[in-house]
Amino acid sequence: MSAVTTKAPLVSLRNICKSFGGVHAVENANVNLHPGEVVALLGHNGAGKSTLMKMLAGAYPIDSGDILIRGEKVHIRNPADSQGLGIETIYQTLALADNLDSVANLFLGRELMTPWRTLDDLRMDADARKVFARLNKNFKNFRVPVRRLSGGQRQTVAISRALYFNASILIMDEPCAALGPEETRMVGELIKQLKAEGVGIFLISHDMPDVFGLSDRLAVMKNGKMVGTYNTKDVNEDEVLGMIILGKRPEGKVQAERNEG
Ligand SMILES: Nc1ncnc2c1ncn2[C@@H]1O[C@H](COP(=O)(O)OP(=O)(O)OP(=O)(O)O)[C@@H](O)[C@H]1O
Ligand SMILES: [Mg+2]
Repeated sequence: MSAVTTKAPLVSLRNICKSFGGVHAVENANVNLHPGEVVALLGHNGAGKSTLMKMLAGAYPIDSGDILIRGEKVHIRNPADSQGLGIETIYQTLALADNLDSVANLFLGRELMTPWRTLDDLRMDADARKVFARLNKNFKNFRVPVRRLSGGQRQTVAISRALYFNASILIMDEPCAALGPEETRMVGELIKQLKAEGVGIFLISHDMPDVFGLSDRLAVMKNGKMVGTYNTKDVNEDEVLGMIILGKRPEGKVQAERNEG
C-alpha cells in the first residue's frame, strides 16, 4: 500500500447533491470518515442525514459529487456495489424480511452454497449461531420469523450482517431508536469494539448522551447542507443544539474536517 492510500480517509464524501423533484435533500455535503473513527451525523428530521448515507449504501444514486473510498473515486450504483466495498448499513427501519427467520435474514442475498450449488443450510446455521451468540447470549429463537422478535433481537440480526461480512465501513441509522436501556448499552459496547478493530462508523443519532459518549467527531446537517464538523470533545451540547436548531456554528471553535488524501 502506498503512503498516499494509507493516509487517505476510509470514506470521503465530496460535494454530494441529491434532489427529489424540487426538494434539495442533500446539497454540497462534505464529510470524511477515518479507520477506527465514529462520526456522528446530526440534524433535525428531514435534514438529509439518511439520504446522504443511502447514497453511500447504494440505495440512491448521487446527482453530483464524488465518493472516495480509501482515496479512490468509486461508482456506487446499487447496494451490492456498496457491500463489495466493505460497507454495511443498518437502516433506520432495520430493513429485515419479516417472514423469514434470523438465519435467512443474516444471509439474505448472500447465501452460502455447497459445492453442488445448493444452499448450505448447515453452515449458515452454524455460522449464524456464532455471530448471534457474540452479539446477544440470550438470543435463542432465531428460527422463528423475525416479525415475532423483540426490537433488540431484530437489531441483533441487523448488526450481525455487518459483523459476519467483515464490514470496514459501517453506517448505523438510529441503531438504538427502538431499543430499551440494556439493548442500547449492548449496541454502544459493540460500536466501541468495532472501532477498536479499525472499523469506521457513521452514526446517525438524536440521542445526545450516545453522541457524546460514542463519537470522535460530529457533523451537523440542516436543510440538506452541512452546517459544520467538529471534534466531539471541542464542543458542548448547547453548541451542538445551536447548530441543529439554528444552523449556527459555535463561536471561536475550529472545525475538524480533515481533508487530507
Ligand atoms: N425517497 C424520497 N422521495 C422524496 N423525498 C424524499 C425521499 N427521501 C427523503 N426525501 C426528502 O428529503 C429530505 C431529507 O430526508 P432524510 O430522510 O434524508 O432526512 P433525515 O435527516 O434522515 O431525517 P430523520 O431524522 O427524520 O430520519 C426530506 O425533505 C425528505 O422529505
Ligand atoms: Mg433519517
